Amino acid sequence: MSNLKSEKLRSFAPSIFTELLYEKRAALANGRRIIDLSVGSPDMSPPKVVIDTLKETVQDASMYGYALTGIPEFSDAVSYFYNERYGVSLNPKDEVLQLMGSQDGLSHLMMAILNPGDIVLSPDPGYTVYESSIRLAQGELYPMPLFAENGFLPNLSDIPAEIADKAKIMIINYPGNPVTALAPASFFEEVIAFARKHDILIVHDFAYSELVFDKVRPISFLSIPGAKEVGVEFNSLSKTFSMAGCRIGYVVGNPEALEVLALFKSHVDYGTFLPIQKAGIAALTKGISYLDPLMEIYTKRRDALHEGLHRAGWPVEMPPATMFMWARIPEGWNSRDFTFELLHHTGVVVTPGNAFGGQGEGYVRIALVQSPETLIEAAERIGQFLKTHEPLLR
Ligand SMILES: Cc1ncc(COP(=O)(O)O)c(C=O)c1O
Repeated sequence: MSNLKSEKLRSFAPSIFTELLYEKRAALANGRRIIDLSVGSPDMSPPKVVIDTLKETVQDASMYGYALTGIPEFSDAVSYFYNERYGVSLNPKDEVLQLMGSQDGLSHLMMAILNPGDIVLSPDPGYTVYESSIRLAQGELYPMPLFAENGFLPNLSDIPAEIADKAKIMIINYPGNPVTALAPASFFEEVIAFARKHDILIVHDFAYSELVFDKVRPISFLSIPGAKEVGVEFNSLSKTFSMAGCRIGYVVGNPEALEVLALFKSHVDYGTFLPIQKAGIAALTKGISYLDPLMEIYTKRRDALHEGLHRAGWPVEMPPATMFMWARIPEGWNSRDFTFELLHHTGVVVTPGNAFGGQGEGYVRIALVQSPETLIEAAERIGQFLKTHEPLLR
């Protein structure tokens, strides 16, 4: 069969993670022990109450029907969690919508809202799904560059007025992936004023809302006055409760935007398995005590890797949040060569920064998904690599 791919899919190359997988297999075949720090999939056990609830509910035969939309108790649980953690009050009836993961929700929102050619302002570097979902919805991505000098916040005054007037959506993400930065309230205020001026829907991706170091509390976009009139916030149980494989998340905020997404979803999915919804409710209402110990684990990992890389002669920045380190690579290398040479010679797998957009060139993303001991070993292998390998000549 020829031309099975739609025109919009033809420009899609296999994802960087698929490429890395092939390279990993080759390294394994050569007898290398792999330390995979590429994908941000939590390796921790979820809260006990999640596993207990799942165990109990999977034995109940009445749980196996189509779930359709999220059950009302889930929205109540999100509303409770938002109030407890971010001081945001949400009407569970029309300001909370359950999703089969925030990634699915983000891409469905683009399809529900965009017409071909509509402009979306999106961070560069940014989580890869922003670009692919905009392209699948046949929208146009206008990149907002994020520079270290500006705290990885986009400079809104650099966006030309004619682009801002045409744009339909702006995506922002703090704590960010891959950049790991947090945003101050003043930035969100600026975003709200910009959205009002140019009639733009703000989409804040808050997937790492609980992965913040040093006891700093993150700011929910919705806690800023006026946010609900212009925007929505995506969140997830994937990172907060280490439930990535369960595929459950939610979006909160502007009721009209949620209604449009709910309409779209009613035509493409049948909802999340009820035991997972129940486990999600248990996490949100009874799992808060899980969060401090979780951050202690990530802190030990972050500190071990940070110290290990400094010892190895690579002075990386300390991330304030998320499960990643966004590391500027040594002079002379490009992200891709560095990643593939490192994997080939050491078995350590990281993600090249340019996979997240043009401004990610010169960086790699390192995920804190192994024990401190393994991260120290990775740092030692990297140190050895840096001592013995020069940047490739091109
Ligand atoms: C910034 C960001 N947003 C959203 C997601 C998607 O999370 P999920 O679909 O598991 O809710 C991820 C996953 O890595 C992410 O890094």
